[in-house]
Amino acid sequence: MALQRICFRSELVPGSWKRIDEPPVAVFDVAGELYAIKDVCTHEYARLSDGEVDGETVVCPWHGACFSLSTGEALSPPAVDPVETFAVVVKDGDVYVDLD
Ligand code: FES
Repeated sequence: MALQRICFRSELVPGSWKRIDEPPVAVFDVAGELYAIKDVCTHEYARLSDGEVDGETVVCPWHGACFSLSTGEALSPPAVDPVETFAVVVKDGDVYVDLD
């Protein structure tokens, strides 16, 4: 297990996200549920956390591909490949993602 700290749990409220740049990972709070994805679109190199979130879907800010935050699946073109997802661990008030 390779845990990467992202933020304090208290910094995430429903509808918000936090990200780190190295590696590019974003954690989204959707109605209290946390989802972590690699924060790079599989079409080109947009940061997905710069896009709109609609429920459990994030929309790429560059060309509009939609991805599932829970599965990483590419739900609409022009992206075809899924985005990587990570398990989220909340421990002692901190949010981590498991990069393994
Ligand atoms: S970079 Fe995301 S859809 Fe093109």
